Amino acid sequence: MTDRRQFAPAAERNREPILRVLKDWLPQQGTVLEVASGSGEHAIYFAPRLTPLLWQSSNYEQEQMDSVSDWIAHAPADNLLPPLWLDVTEAQWPVEEEAYEDKPVTAIFNANMIHISPWATTAGLMAGAGRILPAGGRLILYGPFKINGEHTANSNREFDGWLKARDAGYGVRDIRDVITEARKNGLQHLVARPMPANNFMHLFEKA
Ligand SMILES: C[S@@+](CC[C@H](N)C(=O)[O-])C[C@H]1O[C@@H](n2cnc3c(N)ncnc32)[C@H](O)[C@@H]1O
Repeated sequence: MTDRRQFAPAAERNREPILRVLKDWLPQQGTVLEVASGSGEHAIYFAPRLTPLLWQSSNYEQEQMDSVSDWIAHAPADNLLPPLWLDVTEAQWPVEEEAYEDKPVTAIFNANMIHISPWATTAGLMAGAGRILPAGGRLILYGPFKINGEHTANSNREFDGWLKARDAGYGVRDIRDVITEARKNGLQHLVARPMPANNFMHLFEKA
């Protein structure tokens, strides 16, 4: 059988520092929806280390769906659910369907998506989190961010240029703009944590 697993070296490097923060910030129970799971390496690493939470991965590109499925087959865990097809810009997400009522999403985790996609994905992510999360539910973001219009490192400035050359709508986001979008959807920014390689994690909570 063909092995469709993708390998993202950065995901292997950042998974342990991210896990440490997730352990501090995630609720004790419910389902964590991972938006844009990419290769699936984060999902298979985090899920067994975060029981009894359920881990719901998702993607919106077929090759990445296949990669996640093959990673899960390679490293199954009882609390790792099969990946869902999810485009955050859709007005309704699959976890809002009736069939999902017995697995309420109490947290959403999203790494490295909002800078490498148009702003509509940030808006879609915040709108979805606002609709889905219960009061006290949490949204956790990981990636590079600007602060007050400034890059936090030269490498991020260069990365931003590379992103914009690829698509003018892409770019390292200013956390101020992300917080504004979150507020519009009933999400409050609680805290930020600096991470290795000039990244940050940001915690939002539904009022
Ligand atoms: C750089 S990858 C990050 C993957 C993984 N989270 C990681 O940190 O390794 C960016 C991801 O954003 C996803 N993405 C882009 N636009 C999206 C959308 N509208 N809805 C859901 N995912 C989207 C892509 O499919 C891709 O998996």
